[in-house]
Amino acid sequence: MKNLIDKLYETSVLTKEEYVTLISSHTDKDSEYLFSLAREVRQKYYGKDVYIRGLIEFTNYCKNDCLYCGIRRSNKNAERYRLTKEQIMDCCQQGYELGFRTFVLQGGEDPYFTDDIIVDLIKSIKSEYSDCALTLSIGEHEHKSYKAYFDAGADRYLLRHETADNEHYGKLHPHNLSPVNRKKCLYDLKEIGYQVGCGFMVGSPYQTAENLADDMLFIKELQPHMVGIGPFISHHDTPFRDKPNGTLEQTLFMIGLLRLTLPYALLPSTTALGTIHPLGREKGILAGANVVMPNLSPRSVRKKYLLYDNKICTGDEAAECRFCLNKRMESIGYNIAVTRGDVKQI
Ligand code: 5AD
Ligand code: FES
Repeated sequence: MKNLIDKLYETSVLTKEEYVTLISSHTDKDSEYLFSLAREVRQKYYGKDVYIRGLIEFTNYCKNDCLYCGIRRSNKNAERYRLTKEQIMDCCQQGYELGFRTFVLQGGEDPYFTDDIIVDLIKSIKSEYSDCALTLSIGEHEHKSYKAYFDAGADRYLLRHETADNEHYGKLHPHNLSPVNRKKCLYDLKEIGYQVGCGFMVGSPYQTAENLADDMLFIKELQPHMVGIGPFISHHDTPFRDKPNGTLEQTLFMIGLLRLTLPYALLPSTTALGTIHPLGREKGILAGANVVMPNLSPRSVRKKYLLYDNKICTGDEAAECRFCLNKRMESIGYNIAVTRGDVKQI
């Protein structure tokens, strides 16, 4: 296995078969070796800096019905909310004071938020905080909508591809959602000029090592600026309620592979990783990640934005999370940087 990891370190790519071999049959020792190289590569581009993004979960209404997601349309037990513009601006203000220089507007696909409303929000945030980057994470839209948001000042867009394999995509989503359109959206976003983030869940139902290898090859082809991954975690009000969660071990291994495959990439150590293990986010950083995305949403709505069960930080204030993360990163020899945290190179 070591020879494959060395090859990936030296050339930043493997064949599908080689990825499959690594993903399906590595030992703990292989993982440790991978992580040590991943840290070395990460260090070369980003030193010990950890970038932070302030996540504002501004609506949990969603017109989609993804089988894994706790805020899917069919979940009648989800208590729905939308933040007002004023609430969103308050989140940004609080975030700015806490040292955030990137805000992420994330929500379900909520038709209430028309292009005009989104454009107005973007303009307001960017004019008030011109030294900050603004990221959108609001799902699939037409090219002309993406263009309008970009022209209004949005800098980045996160849209996880969820799985690169079309058949697997069909097992995770209702049939009105198309993997082809998903990928088209990502290419549209890149072409428009956004810094783009894709990503997938590790251990999602029906996922195989081949699927994960295809994810790596898709990512190599797309060349995104950021890749967000986290373990699948079942939600009790979804059709996947009885499916097993993804594991810490497999998620960390995929982070390590991503770091060697896209050396410059922004790789978040996600909240889902922190949910399956108390030190999950620290371990993610030590496997090659370099971003954390704490929540800036008002405490009153946090327990309502539940994509999966047992989500952490739903009882904490933004300031508490900020200080908590500072401590956590310092405990492993890393430090949070007060900066937009742009990608170093692509
Ligand atoms: N477990 C883990 N991650 C999930 N997401 C949605 N539902 C779950 C779940 N049950 C992820 C998806 C989505 C992102 C916002 O959250 O990958 O793109
Ligand atoms: Fe909302 Fe999937 S249920 S994007």
